[in-house]
Amino acid sequence: MKSLIYVSKADKKFTHEEVLQLTNKSAEGNEASNITGFLCFMDGHFLQYIEGESVAIGTLFAKIEIDNRHSVISSLYNDEDHKAKFSSWKMKYLDSEFFHTLDVESFLSSQLQLMKEQGLYHKKWKDMIWQGVNILANKANQV
Ligand SMILES: Cc1cc2nc3c(=O)[nH]c(=O)nc-3n(C[C@H](O)[C@H](O)[C@H](O)COP(=O)(O)O)c2cc1C
Repeated sequence: MKSLIYVSKADKKFTHEEVLQLTNKSAEGNEASNITGFLCFMDGHFLQYIEGESVAIGTLFAKIEIDNRHSVISSLYNDEDHKAKFSSWKMKYLDSEFFHTLDVESFLSSQLQLMKEQGLYHKKWKDMIWQGVNILANKANQV
């Protein structure tokens, strides 16, 4: 299984309820294609992590990229084969309530900044982002 993480800028205002609806609809779509992951929405930007078979990821991300509700700023594809890190999350909305229980908000928001501002040319930045995903996966498995 492969994974992909991206940051996008929302092209309209989203309420908490709308992001929740988007996530629930996404979870339904992901069920059939065996995709799992999480979605955060902060400061008008989405950060989404998806994992699944490479073809399924490619198909989904092609749809996500042309979705006119947002514009993708940067994305990272992890080509290494790995097991699902978030197998029980068809698509989990990590909202502020979730962050309060895990205390990872500042950490994810710094990832968002990094992906938004750095060109991601340096391996160091890329490694930091995947390391971050693993930290979250460890926390997710504790709850
Ligand atoms: C921020 C964002 C994240 C999305 N994530 C997913 C997702 O994880 N799974 C999914 O099926 N659709 C997701 N979508 C919706 C897709 O862009 C697309 O509208 C949806 O897959 C419908 O595809 P269809 O035309 O094949 O039914 C997302 C859209 C946005 C704006």
